[in-house]
Amino acid sequence: MSVQLAPSILSADFGHLARDIAAAEAGGADLIHVDVMDGHFVPNITIGPPVVRAVKRATSLPLDVHLMISDPDRYLEAFVDAGASMLSVHVEVLPHLHRTIGAIRTLGAKAGVVLNPSTPVATIEEVAADVDFVLVMSVNPGFGGQRFIPASLDKIRRVRALLDRVGNPAPVEVDGGVDLQTIAAVVKAGASILVAGQAVFGGGDPTGAVRALREAAGR
Ligand code: DX5
Ligand code: ZN
Repeated sequence: MSVQLAPSILSADFGHLARDIAAAEAGGADLIHVDVMDGHFVPNITIGPPVVRAVKRATSLPLDVHLMISDPDRYLEAFVDAGASMLSVHVEVLPHLHRTIGAIRTLGAKAGVVLNPSTPVATIEEVAADVDFVLVMSVNPGFGGQRFIPASLDKIRRVRALLDRVGNPAPVEVDGGVDLQTIAAVVKAGASILVAGQAVFGGGDPTGAVRALREAAGR
């Protein structure tokens, strides 16, 4: 299976988002990952629908919008309207996860569920057949540039096995600390969408960084 690289604009220059996104796109990025934080579910505040709309105008790549917010149901429509093709929500804040997945799909976006490092895989067992992708957090969400948590590799394997068991070919996405050192192991464990923030935008050459990550991913 080929991998998809999803640069996270969290580590881009917010004053030059269009320029940085174009540079990542030139390197062969497949998606643009957009981190939405509310200062409540996570200890950081980032961006909302107006910026997603501006990013949408700046790229032809699909937008993969990761909602790190306490009440995602309230904002699903606003983010799909703004241009999200993929919308992921954290299981930790959703007592009616099945309903939320249905709502995202009804709006016309792909529905993803996200697991924090401390959240067991069992929490998505009952919806595993219904999701379009599963995002495994390999750092505690809130900030870019953190170190990859090694136990995430086994979790990726277990999520992949769960999806296979229910016959769902949906990809496993991994977010946090993915870089030239960790990417090969992440792919080997069964992930096929790789988010990378610092590794793409931290070094001043997003184009070269995306190319190098794909090379290191081995597919
Ligand atoms: C963290 C965000 C990530 C972040 C990843 O809360 O969800 O998408 O941008 O950044 P890196 O790749 O730098 O760990
Ligand atoms: Zn993210």
